[in-house]
Amino acid sequence: MIADVNIRFSCEKRLMKAVLLDQKGSKCIQCYGWLFGGGVHMRNVVGILLDRKTYLGIQSKQTGYEQIDLYNQAAEKLGITLFYICLQETSADSALGLCFENKSYRLLRLPIPKVIHNRAISLSPYMLKKLNHLAASSQVFNRQNRYDKLRIHKLLHTTESLRAHLPATLSYSRTHLLEAMEQFPDFFVKPTNSSVGKGIIKLSKQENDTWDLFWSNNQPKKLTRDQALAYIKNKVGKQTYLIQQAISLATHQGRPYDLRVSVQRGAKGKWQVNGIAGKVAAHGRQVTNLGKGGEAWRCELLFHRSGFQPEQMKEAVEQVSLRVAEVLGKRLPNMADIGLDMGVDKTGHIWFIEANGRDQRYEFKQLKMEDSFYQTYETPLVYAKYLLNKRG
Ligand SMILES: Nc1ncnc2c1ncn2[C@@H]1O[C@H](COP(=O)(O)OP(=O)(O)OP(=O)(O)O)[C@@H](O)[C@H]1O
Ligand SMILES: [Mg+2]
Repeated sequence: MIADVNIRFSCEKRLMKAVLLDQKGSKCIQCYGWLFGGGVHMRNVVGILLDRKTYLGIQSKQTGYEQIDLYNQAAEKLGITLFYICLQETSADSALGLCFENKSYRLLRLPIPKVIHNRAISLSPYMLKKLNHLAASSQVFNRQNRYDKLRIHKLLHTTESLRAHLPATLSYSRTHLLEAMEQFPDFFVKPTNSSVGKGIIKLSKQENDTWDLFWSNNQPKKLTRDQALAYIKNKVGKQTYLIQQAISLATHQGRPYDLRVSVQRGAKGKWQVNGIAGKVAAHGRQVTNLGKGGEAWRCELLFHRSGFQPEQMKEAVEQVSLRVAEVLGKRLPNMADIGLDMGVDKTGHIWFIEANGRDQRYEFKQLKMEDSFYQTYETPLVYAKYLLNKRG
């Protein structure tokens, strides 16, 4: 009979060993292989890689937009064990993290799970190096979750049937800016690698070669062509930007709206749409981002008010979104969970605006779209389970 045992873990030649010590500190049991960390079956374990701040907030339920209890609920249903980790606590072949089993968390050091769903943003060279190390011994899906918008545009442009859904897009240069001024009555100048609507400029042609320039939430500036060029040059500085034809987005109460579409790989790695939510720009703004005053609205209601047939439009948006995900997924095999910004113009034509690699899913939460919200947590785990089984 072993009372009050201590467990000491070690890792020898990638074979995990748990040594149980009795009260006097002498070895009494050694366990090798899958029995590790108090009986955790590694072949059922899926890693969830979080930002450190989110990871540290798990037990106090301070995880920001990340709804950890939905991951736990889905894992229970699927019969898998979740191991929450952050890069700072991983080493070459093990990680210290929180294992959720039987409705409670345990802090354990476990081998690197064979499959990991990445929900962290890793930007520094050090973090990227750690992420690459992790990916050497594990299948980390959505490993890369920030993409250059111009690269994504070019990838999609190779598929002919998608071209009609892509706004004309050019790399940023003075020559291209002059071309855009000739070609488009309205266009955007956007950072290629930013988010939450930061750094976005919109230009609208007025009479006599003058332009309305929209920046942040200011009233539009009325500028001559040369003044607009100088203003943009100054804002762009050394950052990478692109130039994009503006879509004449459908409006709600005079405010443009677009859509957030969650597309994820699920059973057998197949892409599926788990929800479509509308985002309506704040009064006077050109961007719909919720972080810039945009509001989430049910898309059915927006479509109805725009005179579109809601179910048909939803179906059409789903079809284009699935094709976008399939094309991107073929070229970027790690990709498994994306939040697409899709636009519908005033004539009902569907446009692709951008793909987000770490969808925060908060539109669904705000709109109390509980099924969609839950599905966005369950589907990546269904996919993870499929990958685990495939690896054997
Ligand atoms: N070509 C366009 N035509 C019309 N509206 C656009 C266009 N490009 C961007 N917008 C508007 O600006 C918003 C922000 O643009 P985009 O999604 O490309 O940038 P972002 O800053 O990366 O946002 P996110 O936080 O989603 O990553 C879009 O949701 C849309 O409302
Ligand atoms: Mg966006």
